[in-house]
Amino acid sequence: LPDPDVAALTAEDVEGLLPRPGAESDKYRRGVIGIAAGSDRYTGAAVLSVGGALRAGAGMVRYAGTAPPVQQVRARWPEAVVTELDHPSIAGVGRVQAWVAGPGLGTGDWAHELVAGVLATDVPVLLDADALTIVSRDRGLLRRAAPVLITPHAGELSRLIGVPGDRVEASRLEHARRAAAELGVTVLLKGSTTLIAEDERPVRVNLTGSSWLATGGTGDVLSGVGGALLAAGLTPYDAGSCAAFLHGLAGRIASDGAPLAAADVADAVPSAIRSLRGES
Ligand code: APR
Ligand code: MG
Repeated sequence: LPDPDVAALTAEDVEGLLPRPGAESDKYRRGVIGIAAGSDRYTGAAVLSVGGALRAGAGMVRYAGTAPPVQQVRARWPEAVVTELDHPSIAGVGRVQAWVAGPGLGTGDWAHELVAGVLATDVPVLLDADALTIVSRDRGLLRRAAPVLITPHAGELSRLIGVPGDRVEASRLEHARRAAAELGVTVLLKGSTTLIAEDERPVRVNLTGSSWLATGGTGDVLSGVGGALLAAGLTPYDAGSCAAFLHGLAGRIASDGAPLAAADVADAVPSAIRSLRGES
């Protein structure tokens, strides 16, 4: 029997939710996103998250990080406005409508302070990867007025709710729901199918995607796509749903039955958006 509390996402749903610019649009209305990702060791995570955001239609991307990732982001994405940080504060970055924090950021004191600063703002925040490790250790960081969208894989969710990874894998739906209720956030649980859970809402199931997405960095791209949609004004539930659907579709387009690299997925997001009308 179909579960009324579960809904499979369709191209029509996403087409209906996705903002498209009109004649009155400008970059600020389209959405300015701030990205705190990457580190001296993981510069690529920054490049991939920024790429996901730009390809998903962000009006502007403001990137903040240390010198090595800043250099890589500048080289690959001259469109991004970058701030080189010499201490872990986003105070000088400028106004944004949503933040993404976490991919490749590290989990030490520097990263903790940066994530705390992002969560102290009054705009929606998407947390991924290392930021999830940080909030697992310091749950109090999640106490804020503006919404939070988290994008864990099963291992990251397991740490967040203190349930062994094999139990999360065995009943992903139940644990995505439980995490949303216990943490008071919107949960996008990644995997071969992706679930989007929010308290009092049906769990949305995304079925687009490709096994070729199982390669390092594709999750970083998803964070940028989701962040761009949050910055555009979508709720975390809708931003997460559209991001998962488009990211999966981009994966299929980039792969077409053969290996893909994470950067290819970012580059295929516009084709995925273009194909929505054809599919719905
Ligand atoms: N089928 C479809 N989609 C998949 C599949 C699959 N079999 N496997 C993975 N994906 C998708 C997920 O849904 C998600 O969107 O690929 C993306 C992978 O994202 P992450 O799990 O965040 O992986 P990523 O961060 O890119 O790279 C590896 O994960 O285990 C951590 O710390 C580890 O840094 C490492 C990172
Ligand atoms: Mg990841």
